[in-house]
Amino acid sequence: MKHKIAPSLLAANFVNLAEDIEMINQSEADWLHLDIMDGVFVPNISFGFPVINAVSKISKKPLDVHLMIVNPEKFIPEVKATGAKIMNVHYEACPHLHRVIQQIREAGMEPAVTINPSTPVFLLKDIIKDVYMVLIMSVNPGFGGQKFIEHSVEKVKELRQLIDESGSNAIIEVDGGVNQETAILLLEAGANALVAGNAVFAAPSPKEMIHQLKAL
Ligand code: DX5
Ligand code: ZN
Repeated sequence: MKHKIAPSLLAANFVNLAEDIEMINQSEADWLHLDIMDGVFVPNISFGFPVINAVSKISKKPLDVHLMIVNPEKFIPEVKATGAKIMNVHYEACPHLHRVIQQIREAGMEPAVTINPSTPVFLLKDIIKDVYMVLIMSVNPGFGGQKFIEHSVEKVKELRQLIDESGSNAIIEVDGGVNQETAILLLEAGANALVAGNAVFAAPSPKEMIHQLKAL
């Protein structure tokens, strides 16, 4: 599978989101990554469902929704109503993760589990065959533009081994500090989906940067 690229809207120009979404529509991006933060699970607040619903109306790319919130299961209907393809919930926010994964699937979305930098990969052993994707955070969630945590490359290798040994088809996505340099390390380690915020939107040509990341 050719790796997926998911630009993160968090780094877009909020004064003119339509322009940035149109750029993504015309780019080689596979998904549009949307970061929802609640100020409780992470020390920041981003945007919520009214914004995502508006974005969804004009995005031609499937939505990859990343919920950095407590009790994400409460919002499965709201996420579904946005038309999202993928719903990412944090391992650390779900004591009954297996149930939440089933509920997301029953709602008609692809379930994904996200792990923070301090959460070990082996904790996913008993859920790996049930998820569409695992999202490895390569920064502590809450903010765009942070420095990539190098140890994430080892976690991707470990997850690749877990997936291959278990017969799971889960996609490995990585989020945080992804740029042309770190992307190569991650792809070599076995990642097959990359989120990129600042690397895309701070580039002289965001569309060209998406092309470069897709071509790696
Ligand atoms: C961070 C978010 C990321 C963020 C990535 O909590 O989950 O999706 O937008 O931004 P960059 O690519 O700039 O690190
Ligand atoms: Zn994210």
